[in-house]
Amino acid sequence: MPTSNPTAAELIARSNRLGADPKNTNYAGGNTSAKGTETDPVTGEPVELVWVKGSGGDLGTLKESGLAVLRLDRMRALVDVYPGIEREDEMVAAFDYCLHGKGGAAPSIDTAMHGLVDAAHVDHLHPDSGIAIATAADGEALTKEIFGDRVVWVPWRRPGFQLGLDIAAIKEANPQAVGCILGGHGITAWGETSEESERNSLWIIDTAAAYIAEHSSAEPFGPALEGYAALPEDERRARAAALAPTIRGIASADRPMVGHFTDASVVTDFLASAEHPRLAELGTSCPDHFLRTKVKPLVLDLPPTASVEESVARLKELAVAYREDYRGYYERNATPDSPAIRGADPLIVLVPGVGMFSFGKDKQTARVAGEFYVNAINVMRGAEGLSTYAPIDEAEKFRIEYWALEEAKLQRMPAPKPLATRIALVTGAASGIGKATAQRLAAEGACVVIADLDLAKAEAAAAEIGGPDVAVGVGADVSDAAAVQAAVDAAVLAFGGVDLVVNNAGLSLSRSLLETTEKDWDLQHDVMAKGSFLVTQAAARAMIAQEMGGDVIYISSKNSVFAGPNNVAYGAAKADQAHQVRLLAAELGAHGIKVNGVNPDGVVQGSGIFSGGWGANRAEVYGVEEKDLGKFYAQRTILKREVLPSHIANAVFALCGPDLTHTTGLHVPVDAGVAAAFLR
Ligand SMILES: NC(=O)c1ccc[n+]([C@@H]2O[C@H](COP(=O)([O-])OP(=O)(O)OC[C@H]3O[C@@H](n4cnc5c(N)ncnc54)[C@H](O)[C@@H]3O)[C@@H](O)[C@H]2O)c1
Ligand SMILES: [Zn+2]
Repeated sequence: MPTSNPTAAELIARSNRLGADPKNTNYAGGNTSAKGTETDPVTGEPVELVWVKGSGGDLGTLKESGLAVLRLDRMRALVDVYPGIEREDEMVAAFDYCLHGKGGAAPSIDTAMHGLVDAAHVDHLHPDSGIAIATAADGEALTKEIFGDRVVWVPWRRPGFQLGLDIAAIKEANPQAVGCILGGHGITAWGETSEESERNSLWIIDTAAAYIAEHSSAEPFGPALEGYAALPEDERRARAAALAPTIRGIASADRPMVGHFTDASVVTDFLASAEHPRLAELGTSCPDHFLRTKVKPLVLDLPPTASVEESVARLKELAVAYREDYRGYYERNATPDSPAIRGADPLIVLVPGVGMFSFGKDKQTARVAGEFYVNAINVMRGAEGLSTYAPIDEAEKFRIEYWALEEAKLQRMPAPKPLATRIALVTGAASGIGKATAQRLAAEGACVVIADLDLAKAEAAAAEIGGPDVAVGVGADVSDAAAVQAAVDAAVLAFGGVDLVVNNAGLSLSRSLLETTEKDWDLQHDVMAKGSFLVTQAAARAMIAQEMGGDVIYISSKNSVFAGPNNVAYGAAKADQAHQVRLLAAELGAHGIKVNGVNPDGVVQGSGIFSGGWGANRAEVYGVEEKDLGKFYAQRTILKREVLPSHIANAVFALCGPDLTHTTGLHVPVDAGVAAAFLR
């Protein structure tokens, strides 16, 4: 694709500027275009083209590869073959016959609007201020009042070819207009230069915002609801962590979801106002919004003074009602050719005094769903402040949500990775085996919480794996019950819950019986035996509340079965861990939680245990150089292979991945073969 056209470059710069400011459009919402000429390589003649943001992606980070490039003569010719509104969806396939060269990105449904409107530059955006006017009951009158004849009202219509024709006609009939408000949806502005289009867009957005600021009633969401104010921060977070697993389970009844939590004041203020139940029930309006948030949220109808137990019980009742309501919506609106129902669980759950939980197939999607509901709150505040919030009706929402074109987009999505939606907590994961395991789990699609003694090291390991949508680090001593609970809470607040625990934190003191102090004994047992008990207990509480099953994997050791000298404290603690595997496999199976173990041996590379002096000591005993210790150990194995941290990670993935779904209570040796440690 040619990349040097100045018109396209200018369009990218404008799009990035507009998309960088959340007041202008929601994440991945809206699209922009520019018309210009290029020399047709086939004829050597100039050819008129339109560059338009393609399907998917965000304006703020749009690159030239995200633009579709179409020939204007062919786009305009489509008008002559347009078969009418009933068959307007067919026009999307026709865009493929208008592409210039390879055409760049796939054209989106909004391509018609950009191609047909007779202006060199067009911006279609979803600003909160503009949508507030677009969803006000008297939006048409407000548009006139705010903008005079400079901005024209376009009644709601599902995006598509006809909407493009409508806007083109409006522009032609109103030469003085710089744009329009699209009822129930957003805005479109235009200009003869890129700069003029951007200026017109910003003028509409800022003028609407200023009008709302000046004319809004004092309490758009009604008076404060007594007892519904936000809890103090610590209590709010503790309450959120206590409720999160139940809420994630509710959101995951049809398919497992990752969660995101926010207690931003924009959310808690909304939930502390009298009108929030009525407004939440009305649902969101802009097509982008409710595709990500479902048509409406689930709202807990209890104040924060209710106990956790009362709240959990009520949430479960509300979940049943929500699913019934959603199925009713589907059944009322579905036609024989509608796609099958996509799941009836809420994507947004609102808890007064606490905040908002949002859900998606991964952390980024969950976070964006939350951002979209914040957009919806802003829209409702603006619309209610001036008028009455009146979103598009449910039949129209259904036509968008179950649109054949939307379904086709979903079908094109790549298959999820094997551990997608799973939330892993790996202890001792700032180093060695734990770090390799966390890396592998993340590579297989899991969200990972790295817990280790040192917060900075845990955060550094998390940053190495990926940004906060993939991995977060927490500081926790696994032998301290409060710290363990805090780590599980952090996991639950970061990703909505926990499904997969790897008890890996450990350390090794090799001493003879007579040299082992009481302190040595206690340290080995506190970190490994007690530590994994505490971590499993706190995580299992969340897993049981989620009702989504789970995995617990213990990194035990060859030394849990092998008997040799100078190892009484370490070996006994490892044997304790190994038997926890069997005991808890027997106990937690009733909740669908599998418990398995891995028995490594001789992992020198990357291991802090070896580099912390223990390796030097062993090397001296065996008369080899420390750097050759791994190879030396390899020669003692049956397979004569060196065991690396990644080999342990492979075993962890095998145990929790898609294949060993019917295996619990198992220990897998990863030691390159040590006959004295064979299991029987
Ligand atoms: N390296 C081997 O050959 C080998 C063999 C068998 C078993 N193991 C077991 O594998 C696990 C990982 O060992 P490694 O070789 O990767 O060692 P490592 O020292 O590289 O990693 C262990 C991590 O655990 C952390 N940790 C220690 N005490 C902790 C505590 N109280 N709370 C939280 N984190 C704590 C450490 O900070 C470190 O980051 C250990 O349980 C170890 O016993 C290792
Ligand atoms: Zn739109």
